[in-house]
Amino acid sequence: MPEGISVLTEELTLGLGPLEIHHPRGTFALTPASLTAVEAIGRNQDRFRGLGLDWGSGSGVLAIAAARIGDVEEVVGLELEPANVRVARINAERNGVGDKARFLVADSYTPKSPSGRAALAALEGRVDFIVANPPSSSPADDGFGFRREVVRGAGRFLKTGGILALSVSWQYGTSRVMGLLDLDPTLDYAGVLASTAWVPFDMSRPDLLTDVEGYAAEEERGGLPYAFRHPDHPGRDLTAIQARDHYRATGASPLSRWQSHLFVRARCRNGQG
Ligand SMILES: C[S@@+](CC[C@H](N)C(=O)[O-])C[C@H]1O[C@@H](n2cnc3c(N)ncnc32)[C@H](O)[C@@H]1O
Repeated sequence: MPEGISVLTEELTLGLGPLEIHHPRGTFALTPASLTAVEAIGRNQDRFRGLGLDWGSGSGVLAIAAARIGDVEEVVGLELEPANVRVARINAERNGVGDKARFLVADSYTPKSPSGRAALAALEGRVDFIVANPPSSSPADDGFGFRREVVRGAGRFLKTGGILALSVSWQYGTSRVMGLLDLDPTLDYAGVLASTAWVPFDMSRPDLLTDVEGYAAEEERGGLPYAFRHPDHPGRDLTAIQARDHYRATGASPLSRWQSHLFVRARCRNGQG
């Protein structure tokens, strides 16, 4: 595969057709979490329709994948880095959805330009789905801060019955995932949309090494524990401290699963739809 281009076959997109995503140096290159989130969209196409948001759209793959679904009218990608927004626009054109996927430079749900802010304000309460594969927020906190940010803002945009497909890998643990419901009483948890098998949480990747070190520091501060699987004993759980120490001693990465979780806005808030 040429450097800076990811080709997703029809088998991988599960009926969304092949995708060719360009991510030149300085833009977001697809990761296993990106591919799992695409699988979540492809596997659950009947749940995606109408208007959508892609929080942290990177080089655009999730917005573009969702825009390939016939019942989806438009997807708006929100992305902090202007270079990512530029390449996402080109990727949308290249993949035949330039008229359905558009991208705004935004800090979370706040676009940088006045016209972007007006466009997003017009979507409040009208959005059918949000897809989000947020970055880890460590080492400043427990790594889960951007997921909380996505959930806190989602209620402003999702209509009742609207869905949030949120990428959360297994090691964050059930209590962090369920804790998201405390942030928005209109949301219900509806299970896992897509998951890999147990795979190495590849600590030779500098970003994942930083993540595990951040998680271990959070455990040392008394935060909620994380849960990896032992690379040689797949039945045995490891905390982040144990995963970090095992990697330092042996060079073996712990195991986790890349997953996308489904939340549904089941109730209206303050009498609004
Ligand atoms: C893990 S990447 C996912 C990219 C893409 N959705 C995918 O799955 O391949 C997360 C993206 O969120 C963007 N991001 C980080 N902080 C953000 C913020 N505050 N607001 C919007 N986007 C943000 C990053 O620049 C990055 O492109």
